Amino acid sequence: MVSSDKESLPPGYILHDGFPSVPEYVHLRSAAGLSPKTPSQAAAIPTGSWYFHIADMAVHPDHQKRGLGDAVLKALLAKIKQDAPADGEPYVSLLADGPGRPLYVKNGFVESAPESLGMILK
Ligand SMILES: CC(C)(COP(=O)(O)OP(=O)(O)OC[C@H]1O[C@@H](n2cnc3c(N)ncnc32)[C@H](O)[C@@H]1OP(=O)(O)O)[C@@H](O)C(=O)NCCC(=O)NCCS
Repeated sequence: MVSSDKESLPPGYILHDGFPSVPEYVHLRSAAGLSPKTPSQAAAIPTGSWYFHIADMAVHPDHQKRGLGDAVLKALLAKIKQDAPADGEPYVSLLADGPGRPLYVKNGFVESAPESLGMILK
């Protein structure tokens, strides 16, 4: 446990360095109104979560439009399915630049807005 910078927290609160227990995690999500997660999904948090982010899809221009991007994305999604806890769906996200959008849509991705809006730190 690491106590936090006391100046930045309201009185009575301490930041713990680490992960919540499985029951704490499941309860907190539910209490905060987030979608429910199973105990196996909660247990996977410290070792590799049910949350996956796909970053940097790129095929060299000399090799584009041959189905390589599609093959790589399908292989990544298969690996994610294989590695994720068996109960409950993995949460897979990405930020889609223009050229990648048709590929992502073809593979089942939908826009997260307006429910969830992608944000980056600038
Ligand atoms: C996005 C990117 C990764 C796609 O890679 P890719 O290998 O060209 O993708 P694919 O070949 O699987 O699919 C791309 C298009 O080629 C078409 N295609 C696939 N095989 C083909 C073939 N044999 N002949 C002709 N066209 C083909 C697909 O139908 C697809 O068309 P669509 O976009 O109209 O649906 C690639 O364009 C890229 O690196 N772009 C620059 C970087 C970038 O913007 N990345 C996205 C970041 S979010």
